[in-house]
Amino acid sequence: MKGIILAGGSGTRLYPITEGISKQLMPIYDKPMIFYPLSTLMMAGIQDILIITTPQDQEGFVRLLGDGSKFGVNFSYVVQPSPDGLAQAFLLGEDFIGQEPCAMVLGDNLYFGNDFDNYLLAAKENALQEYAVNFGYAVKDPERFGIMELDRNQNIISVEEKPKHPKSKYAITGLYFYPDDVVTKAKLVKPSQRGELEITTLNDLYLQEGRLKAQILGDGFTWFDTGTPDSQLEAANMIKTIQSNKGIVICAPEIIGYQNGWLSKNELLERGELLRKNDYGKCLIKMANE
Ligand code: G1P
Repeated sequence: MKGIILAGGSGTRLYPITEGISKQLMPIYDKPMIFYPLSTLMMAGIQDILIITTPQDQEGFVRLLGDGSKFGVNFSYVVQPSPDGLAQAFLLGEDFIGQEPCAMVLGDNLYFGNDFDNYLLAAKENALQEYAVNFGYAVKDPERFGIMELDRNQNIISVEEKPKHPKSKYAITGLYFYPDDVVTKAKLVKPSQRGELEITTLNDLYLQEGRLKAQILGDGFTWFDTGTPDSQLEAANMIKTIQSNKGIVICAPEIIGYQNGWLSKNELLERGELLRKNDYGKCLIKMANE
């Protein structure tokens, strides 16, 4: 299974900050924003990952992430010349995806909660069985998101992109699992009224074939779209609280790579030595020595 991190876009909700830096390179507390969605894909056991960026920001991502060997994964890179919609990722990624199922996560989406690894494994299994999976999360401002309408058995009845009158409070979060026909389906997506290839239109194509499943993230779960100053601050505070209370570092790709058996003890230790001046590095060293 392949994975895509979509880290394009102009980040206009964060102007003037993002006039000078890509949103997904900015910190959420002690690590770059993109580490969080990266750790999500790695938790799903995905090792081949395509990073999609704007043309002007690609260099910064390559400098930060390299070929992926420091995390035990393989990165490929492609640029999105202009922000023409999320579904465009599958057209840009056609060669990378080939004939495999593919997950996509948005570069500013942060997930943290109990049982997440089991949800991810279930979604992966569904994609292998030819189903697409959307992750739903109850929000107070559903008109800001793609929305899924559910029946009482949590089957999806409809999906709508940023509806004026939302039929439910369940946002479709920025993590999607698709079967091996996703490129063919993405080619059928027509631009919306705002001129974008909407991910919601792609999801609707699967829904029309009875092949779209919902995975609901419960109230004990945390999901952030960290695209605004407030959500960045809230997310950073949450990460700090969890890490300080437990004395650990969460969503560190090095740790997940090690736990997945993709990084050796020595490689983790080397990485920890490089970062040893802070708690992030100290945690890697401690982990390697346990
Ligand atoms: C995008 C999607 C929307 C989804 C959201 C999640 O919106 O179009 O369906 O709910 O991401 O973060 P955007 O953040 O690009 O406005």
